[in-house]
Amino acid sequence: MAAPTHTVSRIRVLDSAVADQIAAGEVVERPASVVKELVENALDAGATTVDIAVTEGGRSNVRVSDDGQGMSRDDAVLALARHATSKIRVAEDLVGVRSFGFRGEALPAICSVSELEIETASEDGPGTRVRAAAGAVTGVDEIARRRGTTVSVSRLFFNAPARQRFLRGARSEWRSIVEHLTAVALTRRDVRLTVSHDGKPVLSLPPASSLRARIAAVYGNSLAERLVDVDDVAGTTHVSGLVERPADVGVGSRRVHIAINGRAVRDGGIVRAAELAYRSTIPAGLRPSVFLELVLSADAVDVNVHPAKSEVRFRDRWGIERVVENAVRRALGTFDAAGTLGRVSWPVPRAEGFEVAEVDVETLRASEPPDEGIFAPDATLDGDPADATAESRSQTAGEQADARQSYAPPLIQLRRTYLMFEHDEGVVLIDQHSAHERVLFEQFMRVLECGDAPSQRLLFPMTLHLAPDESEAFEANRELFERLGFEIEGFGGHTLLVHSVPMPHPRFDAERCLRETLAALTGDRAAAAATRHEKLAATVACKAAIKAGDLLSPAEMRALFIALSATTLPAHDVHGRSTIVRLSWDELERRFGRR
Ligand SMILES: Nc1ncnc2c1ncn2[C@@H]1O[C@H](COP(=O)(O)OP(=O)(O)OP(=O)(O)O)[C@@H](O)[C@H]1O
Ligand SMILES: [Mg+2]
Repeated sequence: MAAPTHTVSRIRVLDSAVADQIAAGEVVERPASVVKELVENALDAGATTVDIAVTEGGRSNVRVSDDGQGMSRDDAVLALARHATSKIRVAEDLVGVRSFGFRGEALPAICSVSELEIETASEDGPGTRVRAAAGAVTGVDEIARRRGTTVSVSRLFFNAPARQRFLRGARSEWRSIVEHLTAVALTRRDVRLTVSHDGKPVLSLPPASSLRARIAAVYGNSLAERLVDVDDVAGTTHVSGLVERPADVGVGSRRVHIAINGRAVRDGGIVRAAELAYRSTIPAGLRPSVFLELVLSADAVDVNVHPAKSEVRFRDRWGIERVVENAVRRALGTFDAAGTLGRVSWPVPRAEGFEVAEVDVETLRASEPPDEGIFAPDATLDGDPADATAESRSQTAGEQADARQSYAPPLIQLRRTYLMFEHDEGVVLIDQHSAHERVLFEQFMRVLECGDAPSQRLLFPMTLHLAPDESEAFEANRELFERLGFEIEGFGGHTLLVHSVPMPHPRFDAERCLRETLAALTGDRAAAAATRHEKLAATVACKAAIKAGDLLSPAEMRALFIALSATTLPAHDVHGRSTIVRLSWDELERRFGRR
């Protein structure tokens, strides 16, 4: 019997240069990753100013200078050793780590595939310069410099030709550097940032006091002005930021920025949740610009899952996404979010005359509009909004809401289609059908989600003969129809007996509404409950709303105005079109050549 042939072990621990190169494959993909790692190190060092100079899309050089705490001579050398980090010491520190870096991997990884130079000083005066190439230190000198650190990375992948071939052209590498730096600029607004490319200054950002100011500095004022504030807390989650007004979506390039606990991340789920909030306010297919910052408790999120730390894992992703969706939805509900024609202001009664005031939608919402017959004149006056007011709301807020809710300015109907009124800033036109559709949509949604609608019993039941697919659509949604106020009896085969119908307004054509809704629902069985509610509410609202061409009495106009004011998205109908158009006095005067 032959002796075993392989007495020498085949498994070996890699020498550290090879290990660094392998790590470099994960951490250093391209020049943009070098920029990202160096800038993060500068920020971790407490820099207040970071200057970034890039040559040839970073293919020939990336240089990042900061005024942070700097390094001692020993640390500057040690920084190039694998797993050398000043940021964590024991595994427990990983939970809730606040610095960008913590692996002690970036510098050695970059160094293993480039020529790298560190100049650093922890005080103004004597400092250190460390030179290294392909992972090996080639020189350590004493230099004089100001407090802070400059890291310069040249000839990326000079010793890894296979990887160098994967680099794209300077323009394309530069674009992805800009993308990274934009994310940094938006998240770290406290820091002064300058960026140059091939010697030409590209960005010069002073510290900014707000996200809006930074967005204006990076993208220009026109985008910054199109955004509305988001600010919401749910449990331990805080969502803030800026999102595009629905009416402006599609006007310019789409921009997306998501930060979690101060770190810019890519997270498709959060973006989709924000987009969901735009449902029924923008046409399908358009995508809004969103800038959102989440602050979560450290144990709710793991930032340690991605080598470049640009993706995160949530303990309760679904929950976080709903918080984001609600926060954005609320933001879109403010009047600030209304229309490109400017902020819509509603007149509010005063002792003498009336003043124009921003209606605080929160206050309106605090007092639930009564469920029944918004189209019955004065119905909104009968209910006592203060009843529904949460204890936490002050009485005055309730009273104000009451006053605002029951007030309508003098309204004129034009072409049996538009309602018009004037106020301090100009003329406002409301599309009566779109407005009523919005009112009914929200009313139906409330009813579908939490209760029974008032309905009117018919003296003689109405008989409806349905096609097979229609009756299937009816059966699938029967319970929802009943909640909306239809009382319907199956009568064998495809015949329905309708005993009661909802009463949105006196001209309501129940049969036509029911038929058209069923037609819209056929072939739509799979829709999820939430979207099914929305679809049904939107369809019924559209069919049930008053039409263009309907003559309205003054009392009806008034009731419609009041009901629209109380909706969450008064400026948009359920298809994302405007319900309100505003013509300012300025604009009119310009047209008449008065100015
Ligand atoms: N600009 C800088 N100013 C001061 N110290 C720095 C700077 N850059 C790096 N260092 C020091 O060098 C160490 C190693 O940096 P490196 O980027 O390799 O690792 P890290 O930031 O700790 O973790 P990660 O690999 O996750 O980035 C840091 O922990 C820090 O102490
Ligand atoms: Mg680092």
